[in-house]
Amino acid sequence: MCGIFAYINYLEPKTRKEILQFLISGLQRLEYRGYDSAGIAFDNAEGKTEIIRQSGKVKVLENEIWSRDDLSVDQSLDIHVAIAHTRWATHGAPSPINSHPQRSDEKQEFVVIHNGIVTNYKDIKQFLTKKGLTFESETDTEIIAKLIKHIHDNHPDLTFRELVEQVALQLEGAFALVFKSILYPGQCVATRRGSPLLVGIKTKSSLSSDHIPVLFSSKDLKRQKDITPTGLIGTKIQRSDSTTEFTPLSDHAEVEYFYASDASAFIEHTNRVIFLEDDDVAAIEDGRLTIHRVRRDFDDKSPLTREIITLKLEIQAIMKGNFSSFMQKEIFEQPESVFNTMRGRVNFENETVILGGIKDYIPEIKRCRRLILIGCGTSYHSAIATRTILEELTELPVMVELASDFLDNERPIYRDDVCFFISQSGETADTLMALKYCKQRGALIVGITNTVGSSICRESHCGVHVNAGPEIGVASTKAYTSQFISLVMFALVLSEDRISMRPRRTEIIQGLKMLPDQINSVLKLDDQVKAIAEELYTKGSIMIMGRGYNHATCLEGALKIKELTYIPSEGVLAGELKHGPLALVDEAMPVIMIVTRDKVYTKCMNAVQQVTARGGRPIVICEENDNETPTMAYKHLKIPHVVDCLQGILTVIPLQLLSYHIAVLRGCNVDCPRNLAKSVTTE
Ligand code: G6P
Repeated sequence: MCGIFAYINYLEPKTRKEILQFLISGLQRLEYRGYDSAGIAFDNAEGKTEIIRQSGKVKVLENEIWSRDDLSVDQSLDIHVAIAHTRWATHGAPSPINSHPQRSDEKQEFVVIHNGIVTNYKDIKQFLTKKGLTFESETDTEIIAKLIKHIHDNHPDLTFRELVEQVALQLEGAFALVFKSILYPGQCVATRRGSPLLVGIKTKSSLSSDHIPVLFSSKDLKRQKDITPTGLIGTKIQRSDSTTEFTPLSDHAEVEYFYASDASAFIEHTNRVIFLEDDDVAAIEDGRLTIHRVRRDFDDKSPLTREIITLKLEIQAIMKGNFSSFMQKEIFEQPESVFNTMRGRVNFENETVILGGIKDYIPEIKRCRRLILIGCGTSYHSAIATRTILEELTELPVMVELASDFLDNERPIYRDDVCFFISQSGETADTLMALKYCKQRGALIVGITNTVGSSICRESHCGVHVNAGPEIGVASTKAYTSQFISLVMFALVLSEDRISMRPRRTEIIQGLKMLPDQINSVLKLDDQVKAIAEELYTKGSIMIMGRGYNHATCLEGALKIKELTYIPSEGVLAGELKHGPLALVDEAMPVIMIVTRDKVYTKCMNAVQQVTARGGRPIVICEENDNETPTMAYKHLKIPHVVDCLQGILTVIPLQLLSYHIAVLRGCNVDCPRNLAKSVTTE
């Protein structure tokens, strides 16, 4: 969804051209989140704010920027504040006027970029309209720009940061906001509630690696008496007498800051970040960053000390390399990503599994009443895929819920429930709200996420990082297989002391060991899958059928096809075939069937027969050692045999590849399907 990027340099001279290039590349890195228009605001040669906005791709915006000959691009600027945004339309169609930055007035005294939705914008709009203000866009964001100016006009003595605090107090809903103003040159203030926002910090002198890098307040320094509060970025060490010593950077004058919705937007510049918390207000002024809280006691307005996190994210991890799209790259990364999910956790020799992020909570989890798995989209499918093995190995009842539906129905939650929140991004609004709902009711919260420092990580009591690496393609692929494995590992941890389950655990752990190689073999089917895609890409619909452990694969495969190719696709539980879907089957309907040699094999074969008896021509995904199923199929793809509960990892990959190839053949945008967003941060 919407993407925020801002760049602020202080005594680190940059030409306007360099700054504009930073903005464009920052926006390009955010493209994967899904958007339909983009815009930037920066200081022009007259010291005023220049806004450039366009509908469509960042490329269109870029062309517009470089076509302008009035921007004095070679002018060098010692101090500068620039903000940039990709918008995913919620209020008002994609158009330049509805794009961000939104402005307060024609003089553009205040401009703002916004991720999220302000739910009380109509009330604020009405209030401002009564004051005689008029609006040019249909967005909820414009009221924020107008509100800050209104407060400023009535309280000219307030600082920029205080103005933003006042605005944040008036807003309801979810938001991350970054403000710029010609009235406060060189300053940039940001705040968030419910939507992610990070600060990236790049200093000239490096931060010592053996001390903890921190952002600290002058108050901390004053306590140390001997140090003049020259800078707020430095390091801390905990002394043996449990006091803390802060050391500011000696040469802290030149500094660059970034604000962004996620670190991939600025990782090529710096890996030092601070994750802002809900109701933080981060203010940059004279090269200093301070963080305050919106709702604090009025007598305590001192800035807060925060640890600066050093991210391990590498720039290569967010580049496409030799692949034509991020999604294709991410499908082919799966041998490695599933290995990374298990690395350091599964010991194949002595058949033990350790999940460091939940180990202290295992006794509590074992005493629980039930496990509830909650997610949206692909993450929800990973819960369906692993429910049966979780029930078998934990011997606990397991419920699987879609986050939005769970909230709509206000499902009963008890203190002895353990609730799992599964989310690639860790920021999905519905999942996060379901988490808060369960937390308020006293349940234990376990996060299963792929994004370190995300809201779901921070709100959880404990959790498992799936470690799939950055996933950029909007359609989730490698995160799914890693979520799947994380949940299986959890089931293994919970059954560790059950002697009766040893043989079952052994076959699963040995199955996990083989997975990276087996995924490699499945990926070799790529050409065969492409040939099938060439037959299917003009069809009007596609059915995917299976049962048991492969039901989730059918749902996930159908989701991939509809997301990427816009072909209506249905994932059908083969047991339900006779209760409706069979009516769709004829010689023209493409049917993909998953038939693996597990306890529902015979039932699956019956389904194949029912389809062929109606003239259907099933394309079957079956196992290498199965010579019977292919004889009944129109076409087949053979995958290696693996223990039943892990089959879903191998059977989903041909469907990921199929949706990718069909999308390419239909000329669809593989990484950014229309109308969809990677990180759905609004309800
Ligand atoms: C969006 C994405 C899906 C994803 C879902 C849940 O709809 O397009 O690919 O599965 O959100 O996202 P999460 O980050 O919570 O896993």
